[in-house]
Amino acid sequence: LKMSKGTVGYDVITYLADIGQDEDFEVARKKAEKLGAKKVYIEDLRKEFVQDFIWPAVQANAVYEDRYLLGTSIARPCIARRQVEIARKEGAEYISHGATGKGNDQIRFELSCYALYPEVKVIAPWRIPEFYNRFKGRIDLMEFAKKYDIPVPVTPKAPWSMDANLMHISYESGILENPKSHAPADLYLMTKSPKDSPDTSDELELEFQSGVPVKVTNTKDNTSKSSPLEIYSYLNEIGSKHGVGRIDIVENRFIGMKSRGIYETPGGTILLSAHLDIETFTMDKEVRRIKQGLSVRFSELVYNGFWYSPECDYVRHCIAKSQENVDGKVQLSVFKGQVYILGRESPKSLYNEDLVSMDVQGDYDPCDATGFIRINAVRRYHKADEAPLCLLN
Ligand code: ARG
Ligand code: SIN
Repeated sequence: LKMSKGTVGYDVITYLADIGQDEDFEVARKKAEKLGAKKVYIEDLRKEFVQDFIWPAVQANAVYEDRYLLGTSIARPCIARRQVEIARKEGAEYISHGATGKGNDQIRFELSCYALYPEVKVIAPWRIPEFYNRFKGRIDLMEFAKKYDIPVPVTPKAPWSMDANLMHISYESGILENPKSHAPADLYLMTKSPKDSPDTSDELELEFQSGVPVKVTNTKDNTSKSSPLEIYSYLNEIGSKHGVGRIDIVENRFIGMKSRGIYETPGGTILLSAHLDIETFTMDKEVRRIKQGLSVRFSELVYNGFWYSPECDYVRHCIAKSQENVDGKVQLSVFKGQVYILGRESPKSLYNEDLVSMDVQGDYDPCDATGFIRINAVRRYHKADEAPLCLLN
């Protein structure tokens, strides 16, 4: 490979984050060593991924363009944070990554690195002409790997690109680029098809404190989990078993183009339903309206790679503040790809059974509703050129 000056001759330190993807980390370590890495870092970030990134997304009800739960987007600032720590420790001047030159990930990795390590320089191989002109596709890459004895899986991987972590798997590119071609049934690696899922439900009780899950109990077999990683993994297990959280969408990339993606987010989908429920139960109506707008802003900021920015920091703090009273338990059933809420209870509930009851008067005078409705109708009957409606009776 002919390279321009400045793209060869570095000492390379490799870094691989374990954020819950199914990967043989020892094989990866050996490969890095074999290829001449000066040092190899393999870092278990699963706990911090859940606590520092997934939990704020749960509090936010983070969803991009009404459907995507941001499983890839939210992982990037987590991966980049540790990468920068290592780069600083090792005195590395450059940081590199393998994201393509057309996607969101390059933006997320690089914005995160620049925010945390402003002096750093980035090498993005997929944006170097010698690279992208030389390697037009997988076949070129395979040939190069063979020639230079770089170990790659012998059986070619699925004809699409995957990104997997504890939160989700995403599939795009390759045969999925045609937006009307249906995904083959064997694409999904994380969830069972609802067609083949059990004919009996699982019933869970999820407990929240300040909008964060602190305990999950399966009320059928009394399984109970209370550490963040265990809770999240257990929700994945139940969601996967019942085929929860599959979506097939076309989304808008930050870089301007639309892309087709398939996602499976089993645990995240259960959490979104449960959190929405306990939140509405415990949160003031007008606070909720403002928070809903912040949720959209937060999701866009995360998608676009601005986790480490003043505006995202501000939005995260506002969202955290809104969660102060989001405590309580939600009971739900998981069955055939769906999450069904069954009930909820909370010491911070704002729900007043007497006030709402159709059988009890409560501290409420129904006559007041007459004036309330009339006032709200003012705009409708008060047009200058129309005879006023007679609302006085
Ligand atoms: N489109 C998703 C995002 O930008 C996923 C990107 C990575 N996925 C992949 N299969 N390469 O967050
Ligand atoms: C990539 O470009 O490497 C994956 C897709 C994306 O980041 O949008």
